[in-house]
Amino acid sequence: MRRIAVLTSGGDAPGMNAAIMAVAMAARHRGMELVGIKRGYDGALRKSARLEDDIINLDLDTILDIADQAGTFLRTARCPEFKDLPNQVRAANNLREMGIEGVVVIGGDGSYMGARALCRQGIPCIGIPGTIDNDLAYTEMTLGYDTASNSCMEDVRAIRATSRSHDRPHIVEVMGRHCGDLALRTAAASGAEICIVPEVPWSIQEVSDRLARQVDNGNPRATIVIAEGAWDSMAPYDWQKVLMENGVRCHADSVISTDYLAKVLKVKTKAEIRPTVCGYTQRGRTPTAYDRWFAFEAGTLAVKMLAHGLGNQVIGIKDGRVYYLPIDEALATKREFNLPLYEMINGISDH
Ligand code: F6P
Repeated sequence: MRRIAVLTSGGDAPGMNAAIMAVAMAARHRGMELVGIKRGYDGALRKSARLEDDIINLDLDTILDIADQAGTFLRTARCPEFKDLPNQVRAANNLREMGIEGVVVIGGDGSYMGARALCRQGIPCIGIPGTIDNDLAYTEMTLGYDTASNSCMEDVRAIRATSRSHDRPHIVEVMGRHCGDLALRTAAASGAEICIVPEVPWSIQEVSDRLARQVDNGNPRATIVIAEGAWDSMAPYDWQKVLMENGVRCHADSVISTDYLAKVLKVKTKAEIRPTVCGYTQRGRTPTAYDRWFAFEAGTLAVKMLAHGLGNQVIGIKDGRVYYLPIDEALATKREFNLPLYEMINGISDH
């Protein structure tokens, strides 16, 4: 291949810029031209009036300057219309028109489905798993997960400092829509007493009882780490009624949140529990050495694979080493939640 492209798609993840840089370095090394597609599949659909708003020639020197920064220089987007076949055909034709012979796609499972669609339209793609959620089963780590979990761990450390000073429990929400890995790793790394994730059913009553036991046993500053998507696995409970009966402002149709959960736990346990939502800081931290290492290996391998005419593959980590496998196999791999670790974190808190 003489001309290839790179795009980032889905939620941004620390390390994406480092991966773009690795792709740019490897492309230059192999004498290939590299173009950047802006805003993921949006750019491939050429939605903008001006070509330069969708496609740019990637200049290695520019990328070198931002490789250590979080975010993505190419911008990113979620592009629901890319699920439609006519749009996939249109994007593949656009890429062919520009002489693009292969694409490196950096993103999560949705981005991989887009890459598979492009492959079916005759554009070979290589995927690099870029998402803080770590929700791609075929790889031990996704790009950005290490940085995000370090960020959350540091947030919990800071929260525990004030929590200890006031002898108050704290509940901390981290990201992870359908995947509790970030919560689990944060909890394990920071010594949190309770961890709540979407993968394991839980109830407010049970968490409240466990928190009350912590307080009764002389630990009034326990930390609960909860994944943002954990509401999906919560047992039905009339928490609005509990709040309203105790004079806490809330409506019958209010939607559960970490803030409300803290209020309910406060009513039930009488502990002065406080909530914090880590939010987007997790996505914007400077990438760790691990994420930059992975970005470098994955970016250079992706270009090598395209140079050898390989497509329809994704890169991941297995036994600590970078490897690749077909996109279909990667997407079909079932996630295995680390239940023993979950039980250890939650069990330890009861001793
Ligand atoms: O997929 C990564 C992620 O950060 C999830 O943890 C989170 O639920 C989601 O993205 C938020 O997406 P957005 O920024 O598009 O609302």
